[in-house]
Amino acid sequence: MQFIDIHGHYAWGIDDGIANQDEAIKALKLAKENNISSIVATPHVVPGTHNETDIQHFKKRINDLKLLAQQENITVYEGCELFLNHDYIQAIDHQLLIPIENTSYLLVEFDVRKELGKEYEVEDYLYEIEIKGYKPIIAHAERYFPHGIDLQRIEQWIDNGYVIQVNASSLLGVHGKTVKNNAYQLLNNGLLHIIATDTHRSQGHRIPCLLEVYQLLSKKYDYQTLKALMFDNPLHVLQNEAIETIQMNQSFFKKLFKRR
Ligand SMILES: [Fe+2]
Repeated sequence: MQFIDIHGHYAWGIDDGIANQDEAIKALKLAKENNISSIVATPHVVPGTHNETDIQHFKKRINDLKLLAQQENITVYEGCELFLNHDYIQAIDHQLLIPIENTSYLLVEFDVRKELGKEYEVEDYLYEIEIKGYKPIIAHAERYFPHGIDLQRIEQWIDNGYVIQVNASSLLGVHGKTVKNNAYQLLNNGLLHIIATDTHRSQGHRIPCLLEVYQLLSKKYDYQTLKALMFDNPLHVLQNEAIETIQMNQSFFKKLFKRR
């Protein structure tokens, strides 16, 4: 199976991701070995920090990456990972962001160092983004709950039409037991839409490892579900189409039941 990676810091030298062109080449080769045929370059955009010149620079570097990736037969699309802080609304109003390849999908993240808590600020942010005409994709949803995932809250986000992305690295246990458990709870309950790599390096953690994750998950989860998470839904995003809901809950527990 081919994979589409919609979240990665492959565009080098512009954030805390891939540092230089040589590392970008290594990451692209690893992506190729992992059957990744398309990637979305999503550099961090921090409202209040980045200006129009920065956004133009990011787009230029993504274009450099696009040319580099041709050697590996990988198609590169543009995007960003918008950090939702207090200045986010100005960033949206002044278009200091990069939606995924001219679609209405916008990858957003909260501060992973803070627990989301019970306050509604986050929901207000997401609602405003929706009002402004974007469909939020919530990056690595499993990473915001250090005391265990709040499935009801995630369910509410999905009911609101938001897309839930989980990191491949979280499923591999790179971010610790709680985050791993959060990721599998989302998967086992069908409360996610996309698995992506959030690639920051060409080796170590957060690398282009979709084939590795697919091989691990395929021992337990069916082909159609994994294809939806790692190819079909990412493709729907690129084509600005509605994404598919994952019907994991029933089939997963049915299988468990059958085994007993
Ligand atoms: Fe990221």
